[in-house]
Amino acid sequence: MRALRSLLFAALFALVAAAPALAQDADTPPLPNEQWSFSGLFGGLDEAAAQRGFWVYLNVCSNCHSMHQMHYRDLAGIGLSPAQIKAIAASVTVPQGVNSQGEPATGPATPASQFRSPFPNEEAARAALNGALPPDLSLIVNARQGGPDYVYGILTGFVKPPAGFKVPAGKYYNAYFPGHLIAMPPPLHDGLVTYADGTKATVPQMAHDVVTFLQWTANPEMVQRKQMGVRVVLFLLLLTGLTYALKRKVWADVH
Ligand code: HEC
Repeated sequence: MRALRSLLFAALFALVAAAPALAQDADTPPLPNEQWSFSGLFGGLDEAAAQRGFWVYLNVCSNCHSMHQMHYRDLAGIGLSPAQIKAIAASVTVPQGVNSQGEPATGPATPASQFRSPFPNEEAARAALNGALPPDLSLIVNARQGGPDYVYGILTGFVKPPAGFKVPAGKYYNAYFPGHLIAMPPPLHDGLVTYADGTKATVPQMAHDVVTFLQWTANPEMVQRKQMGVRVVLFLLLLTGLTYALKRKVWADVH
């Protein structure tokens, strides 16, 4: 009886331990393991990559995806100068109140403007994209399991479907998207943008850069947080040493 029970427990345990492996279907490779500037305890932000990533967002992703949490002035956080930010904002046309006839007007954005949204509302987005809704990208890195590796996987995961896998019209096969059928057409192809710093715009490069940018928009205070964490640990170590020395001194005469 006892032996049976422990056998049952062992079987149950094995099942629970194997569950994550079972949940992953055979067509889903493990997430790519990119080297990120921001991983690890001392990780920082590669500002050049984040700036290139913003360029990719502006020229490619922003045709379909909004970023409601972002204003152009926030770009100072990835090292862009006030003059650069002003020029970027001025190049974007946004809704701007009404004209003298009382009709909706548009005009150039300013550093204080929210990032331009590609669609005025959800219905317009769905109507333009076969019924699919492109999610707002401001916090997407935090909102998906796997974080930056997952988003990088989505952008580089448009591969040939396995033999016999039916891909309906308006859907695309993606190795990392749950269920593999995504409504986003492959957004990147080699040479799609021209980088000001001369970096070659390959698909993996653009994916890496735009994910670095999205990591920052989702965690703008990450670098300060890590630096503060390291300082706190150093301070506590110092304090421990001092307290120990004090304890030795106070009790030195007691034998
Ligand atoms: C032509 C429009 C279009 C463009 C351009 C586009 N996307 Fe998408 N994207 C979509 C749509 C539609 C979805 C929703 C897909 C679905 O739910 O099946 C989506 C979904 C996503 C998702 C979410 C996947 C998930 O797990 O839900 C991410 C991340 C994403 N896009 C990132 C990007 C990035 C980064 C770019 C720029 C390099 C980009 N997209 C460019 C239309 C677009």
